[in-house]
Amino acid sequence: MLWIPGPTEVRPAILAECAKPQISHRGKEMDALSERIDPGLRLAFGLAPSSTARVAVHTTSGTGLMEAALHGVGAKTLHLVNGAFSKRWYDVAVALGKRATKLDAPLGSTVAPERIARALAEHGPFDALCLTVNETATGVRTPLGDVASVLRAAPETLFLADLVSYFGGAPVDFDVHGLDFAFASSQKALALPPGIAICCASARYVERARAIPRRSYYLDPLRILDGHAERATLATPCLPLYFALAKQLEDIAAGAPAASGGALGTLSGDAARGAWRERFAKHARMHALLVAWARGRGLELLPEERLQSPTVSCVKRGPLDVEKLCKALAKRGETISNGYGDLKGQTFRIGHMGDHDEAGLAKLLRLVDELWPTVLA
Ligand SMILES: Cc1ncc(COP(=O)(O)O)c(C=O)c1O
Repeated sequence: MLWIPGPTEVRPAILAECAKPQISHRGKEMDALSERIDPGLRLAFGLAPSSTARVAVHTTSGTGLMEAALHGVGAKTLHLVNGAFSKRWYDVAVALGKRATKLDAPLGSTVAPERIARALAEHGPFDALCLTVNETATGVRTPLGDVASVLRAAPETLFLADLVSYFGGAPVDFDVHGLDFAFASSQKALALPPGIAICCASARYVERARAIPRRSYYLDPLRILDGHAERATLATPCLPLYFALAKQLEDIAAGAPAASGGALGTLSGDAARGAWRERFAKHARMHALLVAWARGRGLELLPEERLQSPTVSCVKRGPLDVEKLCKALAKRGETISNGYGDLKGQTFRIGHMGDHDEAGLAKLLRLVDELWPTVLA
């Protein structure tokens, strides 16, 4: 079993979708496929039916949309950097020639709202602020509301969010939080194979992007959004993953995998919203289970409680040898992650996201208990 923070386990029913015969991406079947995908994405982004925000799918990994997001905004960007993935977004901005400013926070922490407010006041106005909501390298979740409330005082600054290991695992209120562009990869909490990414853009993002010169073709956010809306993707999409995405969104809305065999596609909006809420609650329970287990063994998570991610836990090693632990688990068919970058050997990470459940996590943790005496430093 894959317990790394993505890619995560993919159910056989989803893998079977990937094996279906191909269709023409310029035909009616493709239109119908996109029609199946959009309502699920809109629900997962927390959009009200009246929202003017638009969703899209693109054949690229999350990093592609990290870049696409920046092609639609002006030159001056502000980045909250608290780990490897938020640093990557800053590096992408620099590579694109943006006048990028970063606010660093120590690993395991995040940038305090007061610092963001100060940077906006002293060095603004910025065209966009980039937040990696779930820093997969450290298991830190920066509350969207904290950043949103600071940005309310800076209406000229677009709010861009990387939701890569968060989307589908925890609630997102795109409009309520004033988000302008948010994206995620398929292989994380959506529990699909890697290879496509999804996004949501506000009307104001689209309007601003139209007004600036955009120096990309394949990663032009408007080509991506318009292509999806007009059912004319700008290039041949990865059809197997589109099939899988449509099925997974419908299954989740019907309560799968917990409630197997639901009457797919027949659920009302309220029932589907309830099914998503239950999926989010499951992730929160898995996180609580892991925290209780860690506490019981004298282990601590890297982030303070308020910042702990519901989908990825980064645990300080305590008396354990992380390398030995990962190897011993792998021999028993379970894969977890060593710490990322500077945290290698100091922490281990468990991705409790996607279609994993509490029973599976409890089993993994029992196995760690069993191996414990053999994996001490
Ligand atoms: C928070 C975050 N952002 C971006 C990425 C990059 O996504 P991808 O590997 O799909 O390009 C990752 C990958 O793990 C991630 O965890």
